Amino acid sequence: MKKIIYISCLLLLLMAGNAFANINIIPKPHYLKAGTGQFRFNGATLVAASKELSDEARLLADMFTTVAGYSLEITKKEKSADVIFRYNPTLKDELGDEGYKLNVTSDKIVIEAAGKAGAFYAVQSIKQMLPVEVAGYYPVPDVKMSIPCVEIKDYPRFKWRGYMLDCSRFFPSVDRIKKHLDIMALYKLNTFQWHLIDYQGWRMQVMKYPNLTKIGSQRDQTIIRQRGKVDYEDKTPDNGFYTQEQIKEIVAYAAERHITIIPEIDVPAHSIAAIAAYPELSCTGEPAKVRELKVGGMSNVFCPGKDFTFKFIEDVLTEVFELFPSQVVHIGGDEVKKEGWQKCEHCSKRMKEEHLEDYDELQSYFIKRVEKFANKKGKTIIGWDEILDGGLAPNAMVMSWRGEKGGIKAAKMKHQVVMTPHHDLYLDYVQSKERENEPYVAFANVLPLERVYNYDPVPEQLTDEEKQYIVGAQANMWSNFINTPAHFEYMTYPRLCALAELTWTNQEDKDYSEFQNKLEKQYQRFHEMHVAYRRHDK
Ligand code: ACM
Ligand code: ZN
Repeated sequence: MKKIIYISCLLLLLMAGNAFANINIIPKPHYLKAGTGQFRFNGATLVAASKELSDEARLLADMFTTVAGYSLEITKKEKSADVIFRYNPTLKDELGDEGYKLNVTSDKIVIEAAGKAGAFYAVQSIKQMLPVEVAGYYPVPDVKMSIPCVEIKDYPRFKWRGYMLDCSRFFPSVDRIKKHLDIMALYKLNTFQWHLIDYQGWRMQVMKYPNLTKIGSQRDQTIIRQRGKVDYEDKTPDNGFYTQEQIKEIVAYAAERHITIIPEIDVPAHSIAAIAAYPELSCTGEPAKVRELKVGGMSNVFCPGKDFTFKFIEDVLTEVFELFPSQVVHIGGDEVKKEGWQKCEHCSKRMKEEHLEDYDELQSYFIKRVEKFANKKGKTIIGWDEILDGGLAPNAMVMSWRGEKGGIKAAKMKHQVVMTPHHDLYLDYVQSKERENEPYVAFANVLPLERVYNYDPVPEQLTDEEKQYIVGAQANMWSNFINTPAHFEYMTYPRLCALAELTWTNQEDKDYSEFQNKLEKQYQRFHEMHVAYRRHDK
């Protein structure tokens, strides 16, 4: 008898331990108390939802279809339901729109949220506690769809939890973008900056300027050069653009996942593809070619002396504003080489007329004029931190990439800031010092997973009031060295999981060794999702 009691206790302990071991949620929830036992889903599980949260209930109900062969039935009666989605606006003060409460006992699951996003994130937490196959594409006979009993109270640290994808230098398909959005949603990331334009290709259809895609989206070949040496020259074209219908489809797909798409129309530099299509946009008006080489050679930029330049930008932005419902639009503003402006009579005339002292002020004039148009249309602009040079536009947000200095300056000026310092959050940087062991050429700077994880977007030197202007952080995936979709994934995952945790979880609750343990489960899930992730170094 003693032996039976001993074995039973051991089994119970193992079950509790096992339940705890199954909780590998990334990003780490604000409050989590593991219980004992499990809730088991099956074909008879009933779901009830307040009408405000019915989409999220449907999402959970359909999550089992592929893997287990059944979906959950939705009932109107909360009393008879096993899973309850309860809209509770009184939670707004405590948890905000994106927070949720999730209470799992062996016979009931209760989700409470003050907004749809919160309920959506509760579903993502459930998904991360279910067997990894639920994220996959195949049925699994006899799979046990259970999750451990747990109490979670959760909400994010920052409102901007971002990922940027450069679709100019390497052009990914609509399906590939959707796959990134799916993974972002799983990790509660909510902002996707779509870098649609650069020297190496214009990727957005603009009805008023057909040459942008007819000429600007066409590149005869790709040349990747590192430190003067050509590493890659493929002799095959990398052509393509997203039609406006495809853009609408992606925007809607993202919205269903509570992700806002921030389009980036990078001006006045990073614009040779546009100048190739409409040469009159540059100071000289000379013909130009979409760049094949993926680095350097960035001196050909838009002319701020010509009125046509601003007419063009306003026309393009008008179509952008129609396609993208986001409040914020990225207008670039980075790395403006000003040599061309110095030799240009249109630019000189503009400087005289506008009483501009130097070329930084001319750049500032450019951005301020674009901001004025955007504000008139009810939109807010964000730009890379060079938009501080020569004077910041009155209402602009700043994306701090050359380090934190720009972000600190902008926060002190009471402007909203997104931190993306390149040393900590640029995913094109190589992941290990042993670069010769890496399967792909990458940017020379080293950015291991741990460094991303440990990054804290709020600089110590800001006062508490100034700190409020840091609205979040973003990891940027530039494609100067990218040749395939798998390469994008290899550079992005799992470093994007670290970004998810640093933007959601409070700094003092982060724990890198615990995070590394949790990654083992994510790697299994990535395997199911066919994601070409890079296993991190220990
Ligand atoms: C940038 O990396 N040029 C923003
Ligand atoms: Zn000019």
